[in-house]
This record gives sequence, C-alpha cells and structure tokens, in this order.
Amino acid sequence: MSDSQGTYDVEAVRSRFPIFSREVHGQPLCYLDSGASAQQPDVVIDTVSQLHSDQYANVHRGVHTLSMESTELYDGAREKVRAYLNAASLKEIIFTRGATESVNLVAQSYARPKLQAGDEILITHMEHHSNIVPWQLVCEQTGAVLKVVPINDRGELEMDAFHELLSERTKLVGLVHISNALGTVNPIAEVIEAAHAKGIPVLVDGAQGAPHAPVDVQALDVDFYVFSGHKLYGPTGIGVLYGKESLLEAMPPYQGGGDMILSVRFEGTEYNALPYRFEAGTPNISGAVGLGRAIDFVNEIGIEAIAAHEQALVEYATDQLSAIEEVKIIGTAEHRAGLVSFVIEGVHPHDIGTMLDSYGIAIRAGHHCAQPVMERFGIAATARASFGMYSTREEVDRLVDAVKKVIGMFA
Ligand SMILES: Cc1ncc(COP(=O)(O)O)c(C=O)c1O
Repeated sequence: MSDSQGTYDVEAVRSRFPIFSREVHGQPLCYLDSGASAQQPDVVIDTVSQLHSDQYANVHRGVHTLSMESTELYDGAREKVRAYLNAASLKEIIFTRGATESVNLVAQSYARPKLQAGDEILITHMEHHSNIVPWQLVCEQTGAVLKVVPINDRGELEMDAFHELLSERTKLVGLVHISNALGTVNPIAEVIEAAHAKGIPVLVDGAQGAPHAPVDVQALDVDFYVFSGHKLYGPTGIGVLYGKESLLEAMPPYQGGGDMILSVRFEGTEYNALPYRFEAGTPNISGAVGLGRAIDFVNEIGIEAIAAHEQALVEYATDQLSAIEEVKIIGTAEHRAGLVSFVIEGVHPHDIGTMLDSYGIAIRAGHHCAQPVMERFGIAATARASFGMYSTREEVDRLVDAVKKVIGMFA
C-alpha cells in the first residue's frame, strides 16, 4: 500500500486493522506490543469468520463438500507458507501450535534419538525461553550438554566465541533470527555457513524474523526455521516448522494419533507421508487458513516495504528515547529490527507499562521470556516498544511524551 509517490502509506495500512478504531482509557489506541502478538487485518478476521460460517468441517477425512472445501483451504494455506519462506516443497512445511511447539518437535524428534552423553547443543545467550528449555529437557533426557554463545554489551553475538564453541561434539546449533528482548538481528547466514562447514545442522527461531524480514530458507540453506502465526498478523495457536525434507523424512513422529498414519494395526502402524506425519489429530484449521490470508496481506504490502518502514521507526524511537537523560536503551546492536527495549533509572518497567497504559499506550514490560538476557545486562526487566506494519511516528511521539511524563512523576 503506497501513495501516488510510491511511498509507504501507513495510514492506508492502518485503516485495514479494525482494532485501531477503539480507544483505551479515552485515548486512541497506541499499540506498541506487536512483538508479543501483532494485530489482525480485516481480511484475516473476515476469512476466519467466513470459514466458520460457510466452509467449516474437518479436513482430510470427508468426502462431502464442506470437508473438501475446508481441506482445500487448509492445504492452500500450506502453499502460501511454502512460498513465503521459499521452501522447495510442501512436504517441508509442518503446521504446529507455534514457534514453541516447533522447537520442541525438533528437540524431541530430531535431536533426542541422535544425542548421546557428552554431545553438545549450542545455543546463544539471547534466546527466548522457548529456544532454551526444550534443549535443556533433551539434554536431561540424553546426557548431552547445553553450550551457550555469549553476547557483548551491545547485545550482539560474540562470533569468535561461537567459532570456538563449534566443535565435533556439537550436534545442533539453535539461534534466534531477531531477538525479542534486544531487537538484535543475528548473522544467521554466517552462522549456518560455519556450522555446515562442520556438518552441523542449524535451527533458526524466526518468531520475530518472519514478520520483520524477508526469509528465503533455500538461500540460507537453513535446516529448520520456526515461527508463530500470531506475530505475523495471523491467529494464535498456529505456527510453522520448516524442515529440510531429508531431515524430516528421517525423523520419527512427534505425536501419534489420527491423520499422521496410513494404517493402524495392533501389530504395528504405518506412518503417513510428510508433512502429515507430524500433524497428529485434527489440526488448527481456521488458524492455518487465517495465517495463509495474513501472508497474502503481508505480500500485498511487501515484506521489504514493511521492514523498511519499521526500520525507520526503530531508528526514530532510538534517537528520541536516547535523548532523554534518564532512559537507557538495552540492546544497541548495529543491526536491530522491530523494537526498542529500554529502562528508566529509578522506575520499575511494570510501573512504566501501567502508566503508559493509562495514556492508551500498550507496551510490554517484563523479562520477555528471555531471563538470561536480563541477567546478562544486570536488570530484572525492560520496557519494550515493538512495531508492526501499522505503527506510526506519531505513536513513537506519544510514547516519548508519555515516558517524559512518567519520569516527571517519579522525579
Ligand atoms: C524470539 C521468540 N521465540 C519464540 C517465541 C515463542 O512464540 P510462541 O509463544 O508463539 O510459541 C517468541 C514469542 O514471544 C519469541 O519472541
């Protein structure tokens, strides 16, 4: 959506999100929490609603019209995800509940059968808990060891340490594409190349990557890439695991149940082909269809245009907030995207969040499910303003004004 000069028309984009017609505490909603969950455009809401009113039935099972229509929509959504990630095949796109479930699936189904005592899983100090705890679990189960790449004071990976930690004991590298706590954009191509040079597969947590940057899994040659629908303008409860076909093909099922089988006998069960082998039970049909429509919408606007728009906001917000003496930005990496994390001397981030809410401004305050990051910076929490395709400079101005008021009140 661009105006006659071809520039990004944020008001046109914003007008497609019904939520922005509401007020919070008597003020127009200023939503700076897209990193937690992005709002949904009219077309996603309408598509999900239409599915429920016109086409709803279970998928892959019925010979009746509604089931066939639902199935077509569900499988059509998989094709949209495939194209969005530029995956080579539909077999490589597994629908899950979200990024969290996708990581757990890889930990249990790919890593667990391979790991032996003393093997290593290498992650980074800036991971979300969902890319830490599944690896801790599988290490406990197998005797493998979790190794962590440190980060510097700007919130960037210490690449020298990464290269040193990569060894013949490393069985998988897991890292976040864009940090949800710091905004750091990691050099994932460099990490993948270095890991592959030693024959080590890489899982990238793209929960904050897929909504804010173009992703080409073939160009990256990444082995696993995971993300969640609700951060990409789609519904909750739906997410994606991209995995290379050769790896997925060799993995045992994650869960057993309907749809993931070809035949079941008490003597033994024959599993279904990819991708269905990893989708046991009735899937989140409306979630997948909604996500597919969200991807169409992102494509209509263009992920490059969205990324450029958000980049300008990150820079503007960083400049404006750093000009305030009492504010300290947490995460000053050279490459950042999607958000600005900060603390105010003498004010707890929860108090910042609560006071901003009274001005109609929604931010996230807390550890952002990244407690090791907080520990690294010697803080308990940050306030985080995160952006989406609909975020505006005026919203940043409102944030900055309100932050000044908060400081004034606590002074
Ligand atoms: C970087 C990152 N990874 C993983 C997740 C987990 O996503 P979900 O809760 O949708 O599974 C999040 C959510 O905040 C995230 O920001």
